[in-house]
Order: sequence, then structure tokens, then C-alpha cells
Amino acid sequence: MTERTFSIIKPDATRRNLTGKVNAVIEDAGLRIVAQKRIQMSRAQAEKFYEIHSERPFFGELVEFMTSAPVVVQVLEGESAVTKYREVMGATNPAQAAEGTIRKLYAESVGENSVHGSDSLENAKLEIAQFFSDDEIVG
Ligand code: PPS
Repeated sequence: MTERTFSIIKPDATRRNLTGKVNAVIEDAGLRIVAQKRIQMSRAQAEKFYEIHSERPFFGELVEFMTSAPVVVQVLEGESAVTKYREVMGATNPAQAAEGTIRKLYAESVGENSVHGSDSLENAKLEIAQFFSDDEIVG
């Protein structure tokens, strides 16, 4: 089934000029980038986006990191896009990520792990709506 998922190329990757390399892995996996913009996330945006993790000990650090440099927010489209992108990203902790995944190739640590991808179709819809209007997504 064709789906859409939400992706963020995180500050550790934009800082090292890796947007194009990450996008190449995404496209080589058969996902289409149907919307994309580079933004500076505000503290309020980051706190809202990661609200579900607000009680976790690393929450402050995560918000600090996500607002420390520009990010690239994206909508990816393809067959089973949510699951496929989670596979392409690799495990949250790059030390456990499979060969060829974005995190194995580029991530530096569990906190600074280069990319975010929605964990369900339901969350994908909510996350896309936080950053994109319908007319910004061109499939
Ligand atoms: S997951 O995919 O939800 O099961 O991963 P999880 O381990 O729960 O992590 C959720 C997000 O928090 C980030 N994270 C951290 N940030 C800073 N420091 C530490 N120690 C840390 N551990 C986890 C992790 O990168 C996940 O970010 P997203 O953007 O959701 O991938």
C-alpha cells in the first residue's frame, strides 16, 4: 500500500553537510521525497514534537539538540513507507544499526542519530500536519 511518512534530517547531519547523502539512501530504497524544507526548529516546536518523551531523562538534551542547528523536514512516499523508512534508518542506537542503514553510515550516538522517522501511520499523519500544509506536498 502506498503510504506517506514523516522524516527529519537532524542537526548532526545538516551540520556535517550530509543532506544529499541521506537523501541518496532514501531514494535508493525506493522512497520518493514529495515534500522537503530546511527549517530552524523553535524550542516550542521541538517540545511539542517530542511531547511524548517529556518525562524521559534525556528530554531537555533532545530539545536542545534539535534546536541547535537547522533540520530538514520531509514527507516520504512509497510502498509501506512507514516501515520501509524505519528499516532504512536503522536502530535508534547507531551501534546496533544494520549495515547500509542511514544511522550505521552516518549517526554519531543514540542522541545525535541523524534522522527521525514516524513509528506508525497514525503518527505520520500527525507529524506531517505539524510541519506541512497539504499544498506543500506534491506527490
Ligand atoms: S523509539 O524509536 O521511540 O523506540 O526510540 P527511543 O529510544 O524511545 O527514543 C526516542 C527519541 O529520543 C531520542 N533519544 C535520545 N536523545 C538524547 N539522548 C538520549 N540518551 C536519547 N535516547 C533516545 C532518540 O534519538 C529518539 O529520537 P527520534 O527523533 O524519535 O528518532
